[in-house]
Amino acid sequence: MSSNAWTEADVPDLSGQTAIVTGANSGIGKEATRILAENGADVVMACRSVARGRAAADDLRNGGIEGELTVRELDLANLESIESFAEGILADYDDIDCLCNNAGVMAIPRSETADGFETQFGVNHLGHFALTGHLLERLIESDGETRVVAQSSGVHERGDVDFDDLHGEREYGKWDAYAQSKLANVLFAYELDRRLDRAGVPGVTSVAVHPGYADTNLQRRGPEQAGSTIRVWMMHLANAVFAQPASQGALPMVYAATADRIDGGEYVGPGGIMNMRGYPEPQRSSDLSYDEALARRLWDVSESLTGVEYELGNRATA
Ligand SMILES: NC(=O)c1ccc[n+]([C@@H]2O[C@H](COP(=O)([O-])OP(=O)(O)OC[C@H]3O[C@@H](n4cnc5c(N)ncnc54)[C@H](OP(=O)(O)O)[C@@H]3O)[C@@H](O)[C@H]2O)c1
Repeated sequence: MSSNAWTEADVPDLSGQTAIVTGANSGIGKEATRILAENGADVVMACRSVARGRAAADDLRNGGIEGELTVRELDLANLESIESFAEGILADYDDIDCLCNNAGVMAIPRSETADGFETQFGVNHLGHFALTGHLLERLIESDGETRVVAQSSGVHERGDVDFDDLHGEREYGKWDAYAQSKLANVLFAYELDRRLDRAGVPGVTSVAVHPGYADTNLQRRGPEQAGSTIRVWMMHLANAVFAQPASQGALPMVYAATADRIDGGEYVGPGGIMNMRGYPEPQRSSDLSYDEALARRLWDVSESLTGVEYELGNRATA
């Protein structure tokens, strides 16, 4: 480990802060919740299963944490659930310091969300787009600098956005759909940052991160849903040999959420071998992810599909 590696020991005191973590019951989300709460943050664990969320919260409390954990139901595959989660947050929290858009599914057989979106695009991108839109005004009003962190993946580098077949209705490749959704995460994070900037909104920083390769439940979901026991075991084996622990995979997101110096529009990931493991550092994402016309088009389509419109206006002259 290099002497300037950013580790859990570098997380500042977060007492009095509130973070929302989606997919907080498992893998990276659970580890990020632990680190944030160990350093004093109150964490809203946004989980599609309240029972799994509560079990994870109990487990974390048993480990000894400072901050308060609150489990709330959020199904990112359902726009109604997202709206009702957001209404609850807006009713109960005056300040949100950080929104960690972390939950995700990877390389699953084709299925659709409650609203008819292909599930990987729907959960990983559109769900978080809608959630952020509902909560953005509260992030803007909250005291101090607040952050929106998008959990992407190195796989975004092989992604493109197929506007002619966004939901894979004509042709579905489980990895293409995942890569599209993860590119969308980065495009959204950068476009949000540009729009906040242009609107003269001070204090909200939007960044994208990726965890490298971390040992979580993510890799086995696709094989499980496809009913392939052999591939489930192959994924277990690959994780055991090549992956870093989920706690290390959580560091880029925690860094982006809490480190002193973060610029909007940054992309943070582990700086070790092939960017698959190691400690967080600013990196460069794919060339396509910096395409502003593509990001604007995706934004318009996302507003139209979710019905969630971002009304930032121009606060500089307001
Ligand atoms: N692990 C890696 O190597 C890796 C690499 C690159 C990127 N990532 C990204 O890291 C993020 C976290 O994944 P992970 O590795 O920690 O996997 P994980 O252990 O499977 O956790 C994924 C989380 O997302 C939640 N989730 C799935 N569908 C949801 C929905 N419809 N609504 C709300 N929550 C939902 C899961 O809930 P349930 O437990 O109820 O299913 C779980 O809490 C994902 O965005 C993933 O793309 C991971």
